[in-house]
Order: sequence, then C-alpha cells, then structure tokens
Amino acid sequence: MDARTLKIEAARAALEHVEDGMKLGIGTGSTAEEFVRLLAVRVGQGLKVIGVPTSERTAALCHELSVPLSTLDDHPRLDLVVDGADEIGPELSLIKGGGGALLREKIVAAASRRMIVIADASKVVAELGAFPLPIEVNRFGLRATEAAIDDTSAALGLNCERRLRMTGSEPFVTDGGHLIIDASFGRIRDARALSDALHAVPGVVEHGLFLGLADLAIVAAQSGIETITATRR
Ligand code: A5P
Repeated sequence: MDARTLKIEAARAALEHVEDGMKLGIGTGSTAEEFVRLLAVRVGQGLKVIGVPTSERTAALCHELSVPLSTLDDHPRLDLVVDGADEIGPELSLIKGGGGALLREKIVAAASRRMIVIADASKVVAELGAFPLPIEVNRFGLRATEAAIDDTSAALGLNCERRLRMTGSEPFVTDGGHLIIDASFGRIRDARALSDALHAVPGVVEHGLFLGLADLAIVAAQSGIETITATRR
C-alpha cells in the first residue's frame, strides 16, 4: 500500500467511531483530508453531523464536499475530534502543527470529549522530537520571543535549532494571523516540562505538543490497522 492508501485506511477506521447526531471536530492535514472525503460520502448517504473545522483549509474542503459546518461559539462542547499528527509518542503524546493549524487544532481538541488521531505507521515514535516542534508566536517582539525560546531551551538542557517558517520569501502566517517557529530539539525527554516552559514565554501563543488530549490513535501499517490507547487521559 502506498502512503495515501494507508492514510485512507486510517481515516476509514476512524469513521466507524462517528455516530449520527455527533458534533465533530475535523482536523487538518493530508490524513484529515482523507477523513473529510469519506465523511462527505456518509453525509451524502444521510449521516447527520455538525462539523467544526480546525482550519480555513479544512473548512474550504468541507464546503466543497457539502459537509455541514458550524463553529465552536455555537457548539462549545464537541463529541469527538478526528485529526492527524506529525509524531505519536508515548502515552499518545503528540507533535502537531506541521500544517500550521496547531492553535485551532488544540482549541478544538480541548473542547472535544474524545480525540482520535489518524496516521500511517511512520508517525509512531519511541520519543518525540525528531520532527521540529511548531511554535506559534505573536508577530510583535519576534526577536525577543526567539531569544526567550533559546533561553528556555537552554535552561531545560535542550539544544534548540529553530527557524521561522516561510512560504517562499514571506513568513508563513497562520489562520490566527501569527507566525510559526519550527524548533528542532532532536529528542524531547520531558515533554511536559518543555510544554510548561514554552507556555511561560509571553510571545508564544501555543505550541504543537499535545499532551493528555488524545484518547485513541488509529495507525495504518502494511500489516493492517493498529490502535493505541492512552492509559491516562
Ligand atoms: C496540521 O497543522 C497538523 O497538525 C497535521 O495534523 C499534521 O501535520 C499531520 O498532517 P498529515 O496528515 O498531512 O501528515
């Protein structure tokens, strides 16, 4: 199976958890897009759901495929969110934000009773950190925020190589109007400590460490579908 087929298989398995009448958070990225395509087919067959998208990109695809959408303001509590991940680590700790939607993804995940992560097996890691951690930052005081992230990393004994995410020659701008710093740590041994330390930097809006949010990962491998559950949530 090629990479796209694996993503489709993970998305198909996640769809089995979607029930009629659910308020459903809808993730961002290529795997989540496969989920939207399959969901749209079920909606066309009569499934009733209300979707809350985690990005403008996902909203556009849902509109195109006639998946009904609402907002967190109208539905502040969701039944389930289905989303992809860049890394799936121990206890379903995640790195997300490769697609730049981490802030809305985290807000939607926190508002959801359950979070299902869909991915191909390449995303499962023994330790987070090979994938650069996306950190969403306010435009104001960018250099000061970068310096504070460096200080924070050093205080935790982490070597941080960071770069501002670009789109061509311009900085990448998130749906919230912020910038993204991609920070390579190599290995993140204490994700909770790094999460707390980054949250303490005033210019940091949010970061892509999702800890204690996911309930289930549906992972598609060549050998079939595997599920991983968190023992704590
Ligand atoms: C979007 O901001 C991300 O969090 C994605 O969910 C993540 O990057 C996974 O994307 P793919 O499914 O495209 O690998």
